[in-house]
Amino acid sequence: MENNIVALLEKVKNEILASESTSHINEVRIKYIGRTGLLTNMLKELKNLPSQERPTVGKFLNEARITIENLISNKLAELIVYEQKKKEESELLDISLSLPSFKRGVLHPLSIVKSEIIDIFTGLGFSIEDGPEIELSKYNFELLNIPADHPSRAFCDSFYISDNILLRTQTSGIQARVMEKTVPPIKIICPGKVYRPDDDATHSPMFQQIEGLYVDKNISLADLKHILELFAKKFFTESTKVRFRPSYFPFTEPSVEVDLSCAICGGVGCSLCKGTGWLELLGAGVVNPIVLDNCGISSSVYNGYAFGIGIERATMVKYGIPDMRILFDGDVRYIDQFR
Ligand code: DAH
Repeated sequence: MENNIVALLEKVKNEILASESTSHINEVRIKYIGRTGLLTNMLKELKNLPSQERPTVGKFLNEARITIENLISNKLAELIVYEQKKKEESELLDISLSLPSFKRGVLHPLSIVKSEIIDIFTGLGFSIEDGPEIELSKYNFELLNIPADHPSRAFCDSFYISDNILLRTQTSGIQARVMEKTVPPIKIICPGKVYRPDDDATHSPMFQQIEGLYVDKNISLADLKHILELFAKKFFTESTKVRFRPSYFPFTEPSVEVDLSCAICGGVGCSLCKGTGWLELLGAGVVNPIVLDNCGISSSVYNGYAFGIGIERATMVKYGIPDMRILFDGDVRYIDQFR
């Protein structure tokens, strides 16, 4: 009997070793240790043995059964891993197909300059405000102290939609909208598109401005100069100087044109600054008390400064671009130079 068991055990071991699939190893298990398996049957036969042989043979059979169970479960674990790996290999997707190459886009120079200016002023504590491009003449003109007989109100200088509605000609209207609903301090910049019927090398019917406004107590022209100097040094170089020239805007008093020392020649004179050493960049001034009062802010308590930067102008000055129209041509070869 014991010899039979040893021979059987040897046979089972070989079959387990040769098994190549989990289903095959299951068949082996059923064949030998299943309910009617060969070894199970031998255990059932125990009762027919003489009683003195039963304990030894029984022990021997049980040990054989444990050995077989262990061998099967080890082999099964091995085969499960193997089969899983083969399944994964067969399902593997080839994602290495090469695509046709495509070119990464670049920001338009106007977008570069606009976000640069916004970054500088938000860094100086200004928050961003927005307003409608289709504007009431009340905000575009009246509240800003631009009288009905002011030349810029004539139909030829503005795109009118009706008698009192037009495409805004300046972002300054946003000042009025914000002042009307805000108690100072107010410290804002307002970037946006504006529209005027001009079209030549330095004018476009649509262009962009960034309006700035600071209203608080005890604000002076010196504060304006300080903030614009900080701006100029960041926008150009640390050595950039700022110059004020007297000017006139209905909404500021006094008003100034602001020039920056030419970043290309350092103020000596070159073709960009037309030999003057200075680049005209923006208009500004101390907010006219009439405008404050028009917008419900008492000019006896508050004052402020305002400025308006043309983004196209700033871009042309910064990159030495002689003709504004090239900025609107959409020529990718040109824009690509700003990569
Ligand atoms: N709105 C002016 C323009 O379109 C620019 C400007 C000048 C804005 C002076 C201002 C300012 O706020 O104070 O030409």
